[in-house]
Amino acid sequence: MIRVTIPEGHRGLSLALWLSQAGYSAILPCGGAGRCGNCRVSLLSGKLFDRDDPEKELTPDEGGEVRACRALLPDGETVVGIPDGWDAPGAGQAPRRYVTGALDLGTTTLALRLSDESGAVFETSAANPQCVYGADVASRITATAEKGVKEVQKVLLDRLSSLLSGCTVGRLSVVGNPTMIHIFAGVSPDPIGVSPFTPSFSDRKEFPGALLGLPVGTIVLLPSVKGAGYLGSDLVAGAFAAGTLDFEEPTVYLDLGTNGELLLSTGSRNGGHLYAASCAVGPCFEGAGIGSGVGGIPGAVSRVVRREGEFVFATVDDLPPVGITGSGLIDLFALLLADGVIGRDGKLDEPFALVGRQAFADGTLSPACETPVRIEQRDVRALQTAKAAVRAGIAALLAAAWIDPDEVGTVLLAGSFGRYISPVSAAAIGLLPPGWSDEARAVGNAALEGADRWLSSDECRDGIERIAGSTIVVDLNSSPAFREAFLGGLDF
Ligand code: FES
Repeated sequence: MIRVTIPEGHRGLSLALWLSQAGYSAILPCGGAGRCGNCRVSLLSGKLFDRDDPEKELTPDEGGEVRACRALLPDGETVVGIPDGWDAPGAGQAPRRYVTGALDLGTTTLALRLSDESGAVFETSAANPQCVYGADVASRITATAEKGVKEVQKVLLDRLSSLLSGCTVGRLSVVGNPTMIHIFAGVSPDPIGVSPFTPSFSDRKEFPGALLGLPVGTIVLLPSVKGAGYLGSDLVAGAFAAGTLDFEEPTVYLDLGTNGELLLSTGSRNGGHLYAASCAVGPCFEGAGIGSGVGGIPGAVSRVVRREGEFVFATVDDLPPVGITGSGLIDLFALLLADGVIGRDGKLDEPFALVGRQAFADGTLSPACETPVRIEQRDVRALQTAKAAVRAGIAALLAAAWIDPDEVGTVLLAGSFGRYISPVSAAAIGLLPPGWSDEARAVGNAALEGADRWLSSDECRDGIERIAGSTIVVDLNSSPAFREAFLGGLDF
C-alpha cells in the first residue's frame, strides 16, 4: 500500500480526480459511477465528504475503505492508502534515452512501448486517468464540453509525464480513437459528438513534444480513416499490423471495446477493397454495465467451461473470484444457452448464481465454491444488445462489399478482449457468424504494434496511409442491412 498525503486546500474536489492528477490511477470499469469498487482506497486520517450529499461526512466501510469516486476532499489534510495494483507516478521507469516510442491512447488503458539504441524494448501500461469522467467516448466529449478540452487534456498529459519521467524519447508515434487523439492534441472533440460526427482532422500530424510539455523530440499522430469520427488511427494501425492487407481471401479485423470497430478487406484476389464501420456496443464486453461485471482486474473470472457436469472457471492472476469480465461472460452465456437456462429469446426465468470449481495455472482445481457472479435478466438484455450490434455491423460491412459470410477466410480479433475470448463461445452466442470460430485468431494489441511499426519503414507508413486514405466508411445508421440484422440478431 502507498501512503498518500493530500494537502489542505482542496475542499469539494473529487478524491478520484485529485489522485489521477497526482499520477495514481486504476482501471475503473464503471467510470466513476460508484458501482465497480475498483477505486477503493483506505482512509488513514482526516475526513472525506459524500459526493451525493457534500454536507455529509463519508463513512468508511468496516475495512476503513472508501470509494474514491464518491468522495470529496475537505479543507484540511487527508491521508489515504493506495492499494497494490494501482499505477503510481513514474512507476517502472528507468532514466534513460529512448530513440522511439509508440503510444496507444485507449479509452480505458494507455499502452506505451519504448525502444533504445541497443534495441532494448520497455513496455508499460496504465489506466487512462480520464476514466474519472466516464467509461466511454461520449462521456469524454461531454466532459470537454463542460470543463474545456484543456482541463481534460491536462489529466492525460500529467499521467503521460509521470510515465515518461526520467526519460527522453526521440520520436513518439501515437494512435487512438479520434476523440482520444483530439483531446491529446488539445483540439475539442465536440464535432465528433453531433451529426454528421465529423472530426476536425484525420490526417497525420507531427509537432514537437515540448508543445505538450512531454520529453519527446517529435510526436507523430498517425492518420485515422478519412473523415470518420469513430474510426481512429488505432483501427488503421492495428488492421495493418495484424496483416489484414496480406490475405487473398476476404478478411475481417474486429476490435471490440465500448465501441466496436470493424474493418473488412475483400482480399487481394477481389481487388483489396477496404470497408469499415463502428458501432456502439456499450461497456458490457469490458465488464461494466453488468451487475457482477468487472474489467480484466486480478480475480476477474475470465474463462468458464463445463467439465463432468460442473462449472470450472479461471480468474486473472489465479486470485479468488471478484466478478466476471467480458470473455468469461461470453463463455458463461454460451453454457447457459446450451442448458436452456437462458432462452433463445433471452428470457431468464430466475437469477443465476455461478457455483463451480476454480482452475489454477498449475492445473489444480479448488473444491466447488460460490462466487460473486450473478446473472440477472437485465444483464442478458445488455449482452443481447451488444452482440446484436456487433453482428449487425459485420452484416452491414459484408453487404456493402457484396461478400458472403462463407467467403471470409480469416477473422482477426484485436485487443485484450480478442486475446481472451473463446471464438467458439462467441459464435455460440451469435457474436460471430456460424462457422467463423475456426477462422478466428487473436492478434493482441495490434494498434500498439502498428504505431511502433510506423516508425520502422516506409513500407509500413505506406500501408497505414493506404488504409486511412482508401477505406470506405459504411454508415450503419443508414444501412438497411444493419437495421435488419440488428433486429434479427437480438435473439440468441
Ligand atoms: S466505484 Fe468508483 S470508479 Fe467504480
